[in-house]
Amino acid sequence: MGLEIKLTVNGNTHTAELEPSTALVDFLRDTLGYKGVKLCCNTGECGACTIIMDGKPVNSCVVLGADAAGADLVTVEGIADGDELHPVQQAFIDTGAVQCGYCTPGFIVSLKALLDRTKSPTAEDVEEAISGNICRCTGYTKIFDAVDLAAKRMS
Ligand code: FES
Ligand code: FES
Repeated sequence: MGLEIKLTVNGNTHTAELEPSTALVDFLRDTLGYKGVKLCCNTGECGACTIIMDGKPVNSCVVLGADAAGADLVTVEGIADGDELHPVQQAFIDTGAVQCGYCTPGFIVSLKALLDRTKSPTAEDVEEAISGNICRCTGYTKIFDAVDLAAKRMS
């Protein structure tokens, strides 16, 4: 028997049914259609499924959908302002911080959460913010360049 929950995603209120064992990542992707939330390791190791839940970045593969009842979520689809990309998104493009792109939504969400908390992050702040995100392509240097550029543009 499914549970009915109500939650907000990117400012939109949704009411939907889910099984008690359904992971939040699956609920977001398969029921609500937020395919920008990526599924990779499914064990909380890689960060591809990162979303912001009530202001904090979380790995949505290790959160039950039922635990998001009443929560306010932000996915990568909710970060741009209309046609204007978030500064982190634009900086990833401008610095070439994307290769295959599978990890990118998770990094963007983690870094947006960081820049919401602090406008001038230190290298340690950035390392800590993306310590749960794995990228197999870029070597990370350009991702750090992107955060620097975004922080400069936002200050
Ligand atoms: S898919 Fe969730 S942390 Fe890897
Ligand atoms: S760009 Fe391919 S895994 Fe990060």
